[in-house]
Amino acid sequence: MIEVDNLTKRYGDTKAVDEVSFQVAKGEILGFLGPNGAGKTTTMRILTCFLPASEGTARVAGFDVFDHPMEVKRRIGYLPEHPPVYDEMTVNSYLNFVAKIKGISPGERDKSVQDVKEKVRIKEYGNKLIGHMSKGFKQRVGLAQALIHDPEVLILDEPTVGLDPNQIKEVRDLIKSLSGSHTIILSTHILPEVSMTCERVVIISNGKIKAVDTPENLTRQQQGTQQIYIEAKGASLEIQNKIKTVEGVLDIESKPLGEKEVSQFIIETELKKDLRSTIARSIIEGGFEILELHSMKMSLEDVFTQITTQEEVRN
Ligand SMILES: Nc1ncnc2c1ncn2[C@@H]1O[C@H](COP(=O)(O)OP(=O)(O)OP(=O)(O)O)[C@@H](O)[C@H]1O
Ligand SMILES: [Mg+2]
Repeated sequence: MIEVDNLTKRYGDTKAVDEVSFQVAKGEILGFLGPNGAGKTTTMRILTCFLPASEGTARVAGFDVFDHPMEVKRRIGYLPEHPPVYDEMTVNSYLNFVAKIKGISPGERDKSVQDVKEKVRIKEYGNKLIGHMSKGFKQRVGLAQALIHDPEVLILDEPTVGLDPNQIKEVRDLIKSLSGSHTIILSTHILPEVSMTCERVVIISNGKIKAVDTPENLTRQQQGTQQIYIEAKGASLEIQNKIKTVEGVLDIESKPLGEKEVSQFIIETELKKDLRSTIARSIIEGGFEILELHSMKMSLEDVFTQITTQEEVRN
């Protein structure tokens, strides 16, 4: 649905976006994750035909953003970093105005406005002046203008910024409910947002793509090995000897916990096989008790820091 090929944007000597390529399948939610100044907004502005690229191409629903901007704009709903809402207008008059610009016929405008207000839960605020609304509600009006013509593709630049935790959850749920029927790219600095909302993540830093994958795969790959945490009861050395018999175990760290004969073990294993059940069996067959067992995952936050700071060191 979206194909980005070697996209580059230069501002003087700076490359804000540097040979970026990625694809988004129909119905998918892609997270665009990167620190400040990474190039997220710039890429989104190119995709939505607000900014020409210096090099490379981008296509939305098969239409080139440069050659066929009208076709692209018709299919895209864009929530920019700063929602384009007018403080002196009421919600209804603003959304009617947007509906008109987006080419919705006069007979259908009222219905589109009602439907979209319901979707972003601002139904009872139609007559309110936008200037009198809180930041979170203004953001919802911004989302409403992006959704009003029921576009196939949504480009959302930090859609949850400035919202309170309840509103964040509502907006995330709303975005998730739109997946499948819509293709969505959203940018964020908020890491949990990506794992909660997105099926795939593009990590971008200094204009370059550092990684494209599912949140789970990114975590696994960056980790290199797997770690398993176990609390078990019995003679620590004997338990360690049992664990060592399992093929694929690379290292074991153990330390006694407060309780009598209870120790914790952090076991490093090869990445390719999940050894949790084999290790558990070897301990139990040795006549020891397991009190707790779980795999220790790197958080996406660790992955993000690792990926973006590795690059800074190299530069
Ligand atoms: N109009 C402009 N003129 C010159 N440089 C610009 C312009 N717009 C953006 N840049 C530069 O391009 C780079 C990428 O900016 P961009 O706004 O795309 O980053 P971002 O990932 O959206 O960051 P943030 O998370 O802060 O929103 C930055 O170095 C920025 O200073
Ligand atoms: Mg930005």
